[in-house]
Amino acid sequence: MVGVSVLGISGSVGTSTVKVLRQFPDQFDLRSFSVHSNWNVAKALVEEFSPEVICITDPKLVGKFGDSYLSTKILYGDKALIDLVQLPSVGVVVTAVVGARGVLPTIAAIEAGKKIAIANKETLVTFGPLINRLVAKHNTVMVPVDSEHNALFQLIQRETRSNIRAITLTASGGSFRTLPLEALEHVSVKQALNHPTWSMGPKITVDSAGLINKGLEVIEAHFLFGFSYDEIEVVIHPQSITHGIIETTDGACLLYASHPDMVYPIAHSLFYPNPTPQMLIERKPSTWNTFEFFPPDTKRYPGLLLAYQAGKAGGAAPGIFNAANEEAVALFLEEKISFTTIPRLIESALNQIENVFPETLDGYLEKDQETRNYIQREFNQGGVTT
Ligand SMILES: NC(=O)c1ccc[n+]([C@@H]2O[C@H](COP(=O)([O-])OP(=O)(O)OC[C@H]3O[C@@H](n4cnc5c(N)ncnc54)[C@H](OP(=O)(O)O)[C@@H]3O)[C@@H](O)[C@H]2O)c1
Repeated sequence: MVGVSVLGISGSVGTSTVKVLRQFPDQFDLRSFSVHSNWNVAKALVEEFSPEVICITDPKLVGKFGDSYLSTKILYGDKALIDLVQLPSVGVVVTAVVGARGVLPTIAAIEAGKKIAIANKETLVTFGPLINRLVAKHNTVMVPVDSEHNALFQLIQRETRSNIRAITLTASGGSFRTLPLEALEHVSVKQALNHPTWSMGPKITVDSAGLINKGLEVIEAHFLFGFSYDEIEVVIHPQSITHGIIETTDGACLLYASHPDMVYPIAHSLFYPNPTPQMLIERKPSTWNTFEFFPPDTKRYPGLLLAYQAGKAGGAAPGIFNAANEEAVALFLEEKISFTTIPRLIESALNQIENVFPETLDGYLEKDQETRNYIQREFNQGGVTT
């Protein structure tokens, strides 16, 4: 029995993780979890799983639900996430909160030697070199939950590294793949949240619509697998059935395919290094009628090129890319800026904020904050925003 902690259990990845835990009650025991504000979900999960401790991170809710419910302890605030992941009974931590704020509990979990099932890509994008150093130092394992990276992780393990020429991440193309380019400026939040193949949280769904999510994933793949940016490719695959492709030196391509459901990568990351037992959901290749692959249109998806630019620059640039995007997407979701302003703000931040090569967490955090302040200033002064 492996003890599990899930950060962000009320979100899309968190909910899929609970589905996996329900399928394998003899293998996994939910020991701790967090929600930001979703008490109804937290209460129901406490009743179902009886964890030792949970955390509510929204500062407006401190103390609101007392210090325990049934036999479960309730903690409040971001800092308590560290207590959740460091519980002695926890063996694996699923990081499913959204945004670079996931960094402190991720570091705490690594330092406590826990296996990390990492969904929270913003943490890896912003703090990649630091996280990699810590994983090596504490001799722990980080398994990607992102479907593309999980697919690549599994493919790469089956092939000799020197035989791999390039890796490819697939992208559905998001909500606006076929929309006329001139209409992009005026799309609504509701349209952006209408993803064709995946059901996900709002931030990542907007990221996907502009392929900025794929840009984050390119950087994530660089830090996870150590390939150079010239060896990481992106292809539009509207069906979202193939998740990752490795191209071998003999010119062959090995594809990983599965129905687009996060329970596959989540189950793999929880069971790893053991194989996932038979799952209760169906895989039906006979229903996969069409596999289409196209190169991404960089006019439609300028954010993807910006991600490569930031990744290649290295240092704090990927974090500047990420923080500018987090702030811009939040403004878009509040209907304060247009969809096409998101990449314009990111480009402006990358051009205006000096890149540095931080050695410490504080160095990265300073650039993260500087970028967020920059975007807010740009917005308030009406700079590149519309
Ligand atoms: N969704 C996917 O299929 C998918 C696939 C691959 C990777 N990812 C990555 O996984 C992460 C989570 O994505 P998601 O789609 O599951 O997001 P989501 O549905 O928006 O869920 C976010 C979770 O984080 C919590 N949260 C929100 N604001 C918070 C804050 N300020 N502090 C702490 N916790 C906070 C939410 O709690 P409340 O519900 O209480 O607000 C919720 O539990 C992201 O990094 C995303 O890029 C997602």
